[in-house]
Amino acid sequence: MTALLTTNLGEIPLLGRGKVRDLYAVDGDLLLVATDRISAFDHVLATGIPGKGRILTQMSLFWFDLLAEIVPNHLITAEVAQFPAALQPYAAQLEGRSMLVKRAKMFPVECVARGYLAGSGWKEYQAGKTVCGIPLPDGLLDGSRLPEPLYTPSTKSEGGAHDENISYAATEATVGAADAAELRRLTLQLYARAAAHAESRGMILADTKFEFGRTAEGIILADEVLTPDSSRFWEAATWKPGGAQPSFDKQFVRDYLEAIHWNKQAPAPGLPEDVVERTQAKYLEAYRRLTGRDLKL
Ligand SMILES: Nc1ncnc2c1ncn2[C@@H]1O[C@H](COP(=O)(O)OP(=O)(O)OP(=O)(O)O)[C@@H](O)[C@H]1O
Ligand SMILES: [Mg+2]
Repeated sequence: MTALLTTNLGEIPLLGRGKVRDLYAVDGDLLLVATDRISAFDHVLATGIPGKGRILTQMSLFWFDLLAEIVPNHLITAEVAQFPAALQPYAAQLEGRSMLVKRAKMFPVECVARGYLAGSGWKEYQAGKTVCGIPLPDGLLDGSRLPEPLYTPSTKSEGGAHDENISYAATEATVGAADAAELRRLTLQLYARAAAHAESRGMILADTKFEFGRTAEGIILADEVLTPDSSRFWEAATWKPGGAQPSFDKQFVRDYLEAIHWNKQAPAPGLPEDVVERTQAKYLEAYRRLTGRDLKL
């Protein structure tokens, strides 16, 4: 099995390529195709992880279904046979890794929920005992559980720039008070539901990022949801605050990149075969653990 690094859908208008997904316009809707590209330290690596796009797409679908009782989402269908006729010649590329979705007007805010301190949250806490300006108690460590889950929005930066944490007041100024409150309410409710599910499967959902948009019907959950690319999942059994927790998916990749002393500047290196295989196994394990199902790649 080889990794699909870029899709090619002939005449179908390409709207853009993110680090991982390729986006196409299909009539008035959107086609999101998750490739097997993998990024680390904000760069797409030269090697892909075979099947990763399928695993992440199937994981998103699992969560959309579980969370539909909380908020409607953008999914039209992920069944390639139900895609418009113009896409049928590309079925082999699309199978299992694509979603036809309603095109929404996206809110320019990344809706992050954090139940634990890590990453940029940990950095900000070290600097001044706050996260997104919210004051926190003394004595928390890298990886500590927060007294309660926090809504910590960030800017949605274009073209690979770093997202920046912003205050709640800044989101009110951007989207208006009513929508800001609704995004916060939905984000925290979705996080609580997803974290409880993860916990029931022996995993910690440390934090996650949602993106919402608006259609004629109102606010909907869009983008990908609760994949290892948008979330930090930790093994509950080995969780130990006081340092970076092993990443459920990309740990082997990060370890390898640190070991070869890559300077984290382009061009990004490729990965050796064993790191690719172990990483693929880790993504499959995450899928199996979270959904209770096996995935045939
Ligand atoms: N239903 C939707 N309607 C309109 N835009 C959407 C919808 N769902 C997702 N999007 C947008 O599609 C884009 C998906 O791109 P993708 O996440 O692959 O790349 P990116 O966000 O540009 O870069 P990165 O690799 O850093 O995530 C995002 O800009 C997202 O906000
Ligand atoms: Mg994105």
